[in-house]
Amino acid sequence: MQPELPPHHRALILEDRAAGFELKTRPTATADAGSAIVRIAAAPIVSYYKHVLRHYPFPLPFVGGYSGIGRVVAVGPDAVALAPGQLVYVDCVVRARDDPDAFFLSGVIEGFSEGSRKLMRDGGWRETFGTFAEYTRVPLENCIPLNEARLCGELGYSVPELASMIIMLVPYGGLRDVKVEPGDTVAVCPATGGFSSAGVQVAVAMGARVIAMARSEGKLAALKEHLRAAAPTADIETVVITGDVQADSDALRRFGPLDVVLELTPGTVSGTTHTRSALKALRRGGRVSLMGSAEGIDAMEIVTNDIVLRGKQMYGREDIVQFFKMLERGLFPRGSHLDVRTFKLEEWKEALDVAAEHAGLGKGAVFVL
Ligand SMILES: NC(=O)c1ccc[n+]([C@@H]2O[C@H](COP(=O)([O-])OP(=O)(O)OC[C@H]3O[C@@H](n4cnc5c(N)ncnc54)[C@H](OP(=O)(O)O)[C@@H]3O)[C@@H](O)[C@H]2O)c1
Repeated sequence: MQPELPPHHRALILEDRAAGFELKTRPTATADAGSAIVRIAAAPIVSYYKHVLRHYPFPLPFVGGYSGIGRVVAVGPDAVALAPGQLVYVDCVVRARDDPDAFFLSGVIEGFSEGSRKLMRDGGWRETFGTFAEYTRVPLENCIPLNEARLCGELGYSVPELASMIIMLVPYGGLRDVKVEPGDTVAVCPATGGFSSAGVQVAVAMGARVIAMARSEGKLAALKEHLRAAAPTADIETVVITGDVQADSDALRRFGPLDVVLELTPGTVSGTTHTRSALKALRRGGRVSLMGSAEGIDAMEIVTNDIVLRGKQMYGREDIVQFFKMLERGLFPRGSHLDVRTFKLEEWKEALDVAAEHAGLGKGAVFVL
């Protein structure tokens, strides 16, 4: 027997980009074939979400969100593993069932192909799927069951803490894609943003030696101190970006040639030099995961040094499953090493402001519903 769903619930809906969200009460969807209804408990707020709402391509109206953590309350008739009551991770990447290469990010972007745009516009998910909502209708395959007893019991994570940590999936997707091995030396550039500092954390958990690059010496020192406090054996070094490509590359090379570069440059900036510096410091045959808006790549350097350059958008289901195994094994910080600010849906304006400032290692802003 499935519990009764409330006829209505509240959600943050965007109808007008300039006006921002409206907190609306709307009918609760029911679970049909291929979907589950999840009571969202907590959903993280991406640090640059105000920019997303203003500029990313997606049709209106739409429900805000990214991914989230919640409890299954109803499942469609074709569900064979999910059941009401289960705590699940809800993933925002919606893939076309007849072409997984076409996908959009619920609450974020419609994607870049005709198929992904069609899926978001006409696929029936946009109106009902979004994690800034008390109840949401999710594709079954986007619900990943969590080991609640281990994560929240033995390891002591709160649900908002878990929600803040799921942004690590993005850099994990890139690092896994370029096959980072324990012992590799990995430069993360830049390294003090929301997703990028998560990249530092994940690379350390994967057993890499990490060289974090950023403009601010103070922020880098704080990042190193935070990481060492949470994981005393973490192998982390820092390099300040000065803008002098050769000097910054030499500074990286002082730690030995790099095996891997993880790039996560914000799309809102230009004239950056860190990707070029980092690529110059790679060993022959080094690997690069480009996940942001990299600039200044020199094709000749790539060719002459046998560099493997891979772009990566998000991650796949196997990455998600593997990531939660790492989390369950206790490979990430807990307790006082996490500083998560929580907000109610009605506090969305303040929440988006705080999310922009309160990003970085161990930090995050989360809606608690
Ligand atoms: N491929 C994917 O699937 C995927 C998924 C999610 C996000 N992304 C991309 O990842 C990007 C980064 O995400 P995020 O959360 O880390 O963003 P963020 O929090 O906005 O990033 C801020 C970081 O960028 C640095 N920065 C800002 N301006 C700079 C400049 N002019 N030169 C050098 N560094 C500069 C900041 O350094 P300071 O501390 O010095 O200010 C800080 O390290 C996003 O913009 C998005 O495009 C990609």
